[in-house]
This record gives sequence, C-alpha cells and structure tokens, in this order.
Amino acid sequence: MNELIGLYPAWLEPGIGAGWVIGAIATIHVLFSHASVGAALVFAWLARRAVTANQPQHIDFIRRYGAFLLIFSYVLGSVTGPGIWFAATIANPRGISALIHNFVWLWATEWVFFLIEIAGVYLLVYLAGRVPVKTYLRYATIFALSSVGTLLIIVGILSFMLWPGSPDWYQTGGVLSAFFGESMFAQLAVRFFFMLTITGVVGGFAAAKTTDPAEKAYIARTLSSLGAFGAVMGTLCFYWFMSSLAPETADVIGTRMPESFGMMMGASVGVALAYFAFTAWRPTMVAMVPAAVATVLILVLGLAPGETAREIIRKPWVAGRYVYANQVVGRDVPALGIQSELPKLEQKGILGTHPFLPENLRNPQTRWERLEAGRAAGIAACSSCHSLTVSGIRPMREFFPKNASAADIETWLGAGLHRGHIAYMPALPLPEMDRRVLAEFLAEMIKLQAENPDQAAHYAVKGFPKDQYEEKK
Ligand code: HEC
Repeated sequence: MNELIGLYPAWLEPGIGAGWVIGAIATIHVLFSHASVGAALVFAWLARRAVTANQPQHIDFIRRYGAFLLIFSYVLGSVTGPGIWFAATIANPRGISALIHNFVWLWATEWVFFLIEIAGVYLLVYLAGRVPVKTYLRYATIFALSSVGTLLIIVGILSFMLWPGSPDWYQTGGVLSAFFGESMFAQLAVRFFFMLTITGVVGGFAAAKTTDPAEKAYIARTLSSLGAFGAVMGTLCFYWFMSSLAPETADVIGTRMPESFGMMMGASVGVALAYFAFTAWRPTMVAMVPAAVATVLILVLGLAPGETAREIIRKPWVAGRYVYANQVVGRDVPALGIQSELPKLEQKGILGTHPFLPENLRNPQTRWERLEAGRAAGIAACSSCHSLTVSGIRPMREFFPKNASAADIETWLGAGLHRGHIAYMPALPLPEMDRRVLAEFLAEMIKLQAENPDQAAHYAVKGFPKDQYEEKK
C-alpha cells in the first residue's frame, strides 16, 4: 500500500472545466470583496469628516451605502466566498491542503476580521444617527482596519500560490517567509489601488440616491478623485508587480498570455478614468445606469483578465511551487518533510500509485483495459489543465496533430513532458506502460472526436463501452 501517493479522484467538469468554475466565482467575489474594503476606507474618511468638519449628513450617506453593501458585498460575498472554497476543494484538494497547512492561523485570523467586518457593517447601518458621531467614528475606524486586514491576509495567501515570499522558505518553512515577499507587497499595492477604483464606481449606486445636491456633489467628487487616483497608482504598481515576478514566469507570460489581456486591462482603466472625469464634472448626473455600466465594464475588461492572468502565470504549479495543478508534488520542501513524488511516479507510474484506480487497470491487457487505464491516467495527470472533450479548457485534441498516431504521442510523452522542458506544463516522468496506455487513449479520443464529438465526449466522461472494445486487441 505504501506504493500509493495521495492523489484524490478528479472533478471532471466536461462542459467548461473545473478551473473555469472556480475562476468565474472568484472574479465575481473579487468585485464584492474589493468594493467592501474600499468602501470601509471611504466610510472612515466620511465619519471623520462628520466629526471634525461638522458634516453629520455624511452619516446618512454611509448608512445608505452600508445597506447597499449588506446585499452587494456581504450576502453575495458570503455566497461566493464559500463557493470558492467548495469548488477549489474538489477541484484541487491538495492545493487547498497546502495553503491550509501553511497558513492555518492566518486564515483563522482572517475569519476573525470577517466577523468584525460583518458586525461592523450592521452597526454602521443600524446605529447611524442613533449613537453620538464620535462613537460612530470609532465603529467606522474599526470596520476600516479589519477590512484592510482581510485584504492583507488573503493577498499573502494568494501570493504564495505564485511562490513563497522568500526563497529560503523551502529550507526554513517559516510562515512569515512563506507570506512576506516583494511580489506579495506588489500584489497588495495593485489590489489596494484598483480597489479604490472599484469603490469609486460602485459607490455611485449609493451616491445616485443622495437627494441633497451639495452632499451629492461632495460625495461624487470624493469618489471620482479617489477612483482616479487608484486607477493611476494601480497601473504603476501593476508594472512593479510584473517586474517582481520570478524569472521563470517570463517564459510562461511570453508564450501563454493572450495579447488582448493588456488591451482589455488598459481599456478598463480608460473607462474608469472617463467615468470619473464625467462624474467630477457633472456630479448631478451620477445615477444607477452609468454606475452599473461602468461596474460591468470593469468586471469584464479589468477583473476577469486580471484574475485569469494571475492563474496563468502560476502554471504549472497551484501552490508554493511544489504542488502541481494536477495534484502531484513536484519538488522537495525539506523544512516540512515533503518529498517530490516524481521519482515514485517515474518508477511506478500513475497506474501503480493512484489510490482510486480499479485493480484490473493497474496492469491492463485487453484493448478496453488499456483505453480505460489511459483514460484514468489522462484524467489524473492532464484533465486539470486540458479538457478531454471538445469544449472546456484547452481541449487536448487541439494540441496534437489531427492524425497523430499512438506511437507519435507516446514519443512526445517520453520527451519534452518527461523531462519538464515545457515551462507551463508539469514535468511528468511516466514509465513505459503509462505512456503507452495514455497515448493509446489520446489517439483514440482524437480520432473519435473527429468522427463523432458527442460520442467521444460521452466515452471520455463515462468510459468506453466494454462490449465494443473488448474484442479489438
Ligand atoms: C499545469 C497545467 C497542465 C497540465 C497538468 C498539462 N498541461 Fe499540457 N499544456 C498546458 C498549457 C498551459 C499548454 C499551452 C496551451 C496553449 O498553447 O494554449 C499546454 C500544451 C500542451 C501541448 C502542446 C505542446 C506544446 O509544446 O505547447 C500538449 C501536446 C499537451 N499540453 C499535452 C498534455 C498532456 C498529455 C498532459 C497530461 C499528461 C498535459 N498536457 C498536462 C498545461 C498543462
């Protein structure tokens, strides 16, 4: 039994791919969470001004914006946040496990901050006008500090998915060297500033409902200056973030990043700046529709490619540059007693080490057994990044020539992939039997997909029909 490695069953999502399920939930979540943290800073600013400049009408705006956030950020954010957990846990159990093992106390701390935030937003909404302004300012300050605390912690953990803050972490295993590093600070700065941009736009929903013209003008101009400042600083910090990335990622960025991403992100900054210029010039025109249009444009043009790019540049790893996207541990972490599983994989293959493989497929003989074993190997080793059907993430058949034979594929599996020469794919040193069955399966899938894509998809997901394949040796 000690031959096995700790792989889990794979989550096959044949339509769009498990990765996109997480990506879609996460992108929306980023909008909700950033809108809330940015708003918390605006609240603290306005509450302070309510006290020091004697502007109690600001409290009214905070109450209205807070009530909007209760639904927009807190209800929807609390649905999408655990949504990411559920999706990521089944898509990538070992990646999540790596994050939890390294950051359990930081995560616990984050949840404490969340609780304070949730209590805080209720206090700000329901006690507005019912407690002295100075007390209200204290609530707003605590709300702002705990909100920024959640951002700080989650960015450190997200950065670790790219790589540990400091390279000596592999030797020391210390949580602080996992957490802090230049790239983490750069990512924190990018998120912090673009968060102000998001707040500038989303705040428009609450500003639109403000009836007092002077107050509306003040709020609209505050939001637009804040948003424009965030857009300019965020763009500058984005270059810092790119320059802080490890040299290995240059390869992945150069070959993998769609050119349209840069243009889309540039366009979203442009849209935001134009919106802020307009609302600063004509504060009375701040209304629901323009705010909604600007929010959707920022989500689609800015956040979606931004978060996708972050996913692309950590390929082929999923956490700490030691867990591959396909769950295999690909390098030693001496400090944690973690050993690379590649040597074992090279010796015993997926067929010999995967715990969730039917025994009859460990040493496949018939054509049907070989195809099914190849399918299991493909699901385990490749499906996290390549769809085995014709839709979804990077459908496998697009990467092999249309008439690729099993022998061609087997040669390829033994060459580049074996030694890890392809920057964005895991090194996969598979023994001969694994390579043979995987190649046989891939060749059959590519052939079937050309003839009958629906049937091919059905076989890839449900398995090959035994009676049809058994006799063909
Ligand atoms: C960590 C994610 C990941 C895993 C796991 C993975 N690949 Fe890839 N693979 C990629 C990416 C990214 C590309 C580049 C795709 C593109 O060009 O859009 C790629 C490209 C390819 C190509 C094209 C060759 C090339 O030089 O670009 C082939 C063939 C391929 N993969 C086969 C496989 C097979 C077979 C497996 C399983 C044994 C596998 N991949 C596992 C991410 C992965």
